[in-house]
Amino acid sequence: MGPILQVEKLTKRFGGLTAVAELDFEVREGEILGMIGPNGAGKTTTFNVIAGTYPATGGEVRFAGEPILGLPPHRIASRGVMRTFQHNRPFAGLPVIDNVLVGAHTRFAASLWSVVLGSARSDEGQRRKRAEELVQFVGLGELRDADVATLSFGQGRLLEIARALAGEPRLILFDEPAAGLTPAECARLAEIIRGIAARGIAVLLIEHDMHFLLPLAQRVVVLNFGAKIADGLPDEVRAHPAVMDAYLGSHATPQ
Ligand SMILES: Nc1ncnc2c1ncn2[C@@H]1O[C@H](COP(=O)(O)OP(=O)(O)OP(=O)(O)O)[C@@H](O)[C@H]1O
Ligand SMILES: [Mg+2]
Repeated sequence: MGPILQVEKLTKRFGGLTAVAELDFEVREGEILGMIGPNGAGKTTTFNVIAGTYPATGGEVRFAGEPILGLPPHRIASRGVMRTFQHNRPFAGLPVIDNVLVGAHTRFAASLWSVVLGSARSDEGQRRKRAEELVQFVGLGELRDADVATLSFGQGRLLEIARALAGEPRLILFDEPAAGLTPAECARLAEIIRGIAARGIAVLLIEHDMHFLLPLAQRVVVLNFGAKIADGLPDEVRAHPAVMDAYLGSHATPQ
C-alpha cells in the first residue's frame, strides 16, 4: 500500500525549544502506525502540526500526495484527517448521537447550529444514518440519547472516536486513546482500532502503554527530544538500544 501521509523534515520550535526536529515518517493506507516516546518527546506537537493547529517551523507534510502544511485545521479535516485529543472534549448539553453528528459536520463544514436545529439538507438523513451506525460500532448504541454529561470516562473516549469517524477520515490521529481506560475498555478499544484499519482508514496512534500498542501497530516510530530515534516493527523497536536508553532516561521502561 502507498503512503497516505508523508512527513518530511518536519520541525516545530516554541521560542528556543525545538519540540519536533527534522522528523521524517510516513503512514501507509490502512496501516496502524504507532508513535511512542517519553513525556515531552514531541508526539502531541507532531499531531498539532499535522492537523494545522500549530504552524510548522519547517519541513513538509503531504496528505494523499498534496501538501497540507499551512492550511487551516478545518481544511485539513475536510481532506480527511481527523483526530482525537489527549483529553475528551464532548459538546456539553447535546446527546451522544448529536455529538457524533457534529463530527460529520466538521468534515462537511456545516455549522453546529444546523445539527442542533436539524436543518433539512438533502444529505442530512444519510449523515444521521451513518452517525447511528458509528454509535453502534463503538458500542454506545444503548446510550445514543444519553446526555454526554452522564457518560463514564471510557464511554466519553468511545464517543470521541465515533465523532472523529463521522468525519469520514482517511487518516485518524489518536493521542493516547488508552490512557485512563480499564483493562476491559482497553481490549474493546483495541478491537475498535483494528476495525477502523480494516475499513481501510490509516491510523496514527500515540500511546505510552506498550502492552496496548505493540500488538496493535504494524510499525512503530520512536521520538525523543523531538527527533526520531528508531522506527521499525514493534519487536525491533522494543529491543532497540536507543529506545531502551530514552525510556530509562525518563524512568519509564517500555514493558
Ligand atoms: N504550545 C506550546 N508552547 C510551548 N511549548 C510547548 C507547547 N506545546 C508543547 N510544548 C513543549 O514541546 C515539547 C513537546 O511537547 P508534546 O506535548 O508534544 O510532548 P508529548 O510527546 O506529547 O508528551 P506527553 O507524552 O507528555 O503527552 C515539550 O517540551 C512541551 O513543553
Ligand atoms: Mg502528548
